[in-house]
Amino acid sequence: MSETQIPLAGVIGNPIAHSRSPKLHKHWLATYGLKGDYVPLHVHEEDLETVLRTMHKMGFVGANVTIPHKVAALHIADQVSDRATLIGAANTLIFRKDGKIIADNTDGYGFIANLRQNAPGWDAAAGPALVFGAGGAARAVIVSLIEQGTTEIILTNRTRPKSEALRDEFGTRIHVVDWVQAGNHIDEAATVINTTSLGMVGQPEFRVPLDGLRPGTVVTDLVYAPLRTHLLQVAEDAGCVTVDGLGMLLHQGVPGFERWFGTRPEVNEATRAAVLA
Ligand code: ATR
Repeated sequence: MSETQIPLAGVIGNPIAHSRSPKLHKHWLATYGLKGDYVPLHVHEEDLETVLRTMHKMGFVGANVTIPHKVAALHIADQVSDRATLIGAANTLIFRKDGKIIADNTDGYGFIANLRQNAPGWDAAAGPALVFGAGGAARAVIVSLIEQGTTEIILTNRTRPKSEALRDEFGTRIHVVDWVQAGNHIDEAATVINTTSLGMVGQPEFRVPLDGLRPGTVVTDLVYAPLRTHLLQVAEDAGCVTVDGLGMLLHQGVPGFERWFGTRPEVNEATRAAVLA
């Protein structure tokens, strides 16, 4: 990149208008006084490869990828990180000057960093984790929990075969339970994680019986709209340590921003406020 060129990054998705990533990265660029810009890019599936192969020519040093491109981006990339391979999807790309595309996945990192920041003392190995959902977000959560030393993951999903497929892939630390039975396992869990879309604005409510929640259990919801989901509210009332999903979004942006713009950004109250504004 020549001295006169402004380093660009962006988020690629379809739809993309609702993405909070531009607010996040623009806030960090302004906070650290860095040269650069970050834009939302609406790209159709059939154009993804052409777009990705052209971006370095337009001054893009990297991009985030979101729905529905996370799996396709992984396959287009020339080099893929181990964690992205394990998760089976990419959310962060680096465009090298020679045109090579490097893919990473920072969702699991963001998930763990959010818990570490907002549930101080949280220890993955302290006891079983109960995971609701077996979609793309659940894969990132499961990979990172295993990496952090969680010895048992109780996994439940409305569509049971998807949980079983994850167990077959990631091993015997995963114990699959029926969706309708999940409430009976809550008291066994040291950490409870909702990775489904239940409870999100416009989606059905998270209706699992939660009477088994014990004080001190760490409960986190990947849903961040609303910030205070029904699950987190009930958990708080039960004396649990609750962690909302916005922090995961903020933290997953850190490694990409650092690679693209050269400064490792901090996630703090100002970051949250900027993204919620
Ligand atoms: P993401 O990338 O956010 O994980 P996804 O891969 O589409 O998105 O996964 C969505 C998750 O939410 C799945 O676990 C899905 O359950 P199914 O596998 O049974 O579809 C879960 N989910 C979505 N709507 C749900 C509902 N009404 N009841 C229960 N689970 C639901």
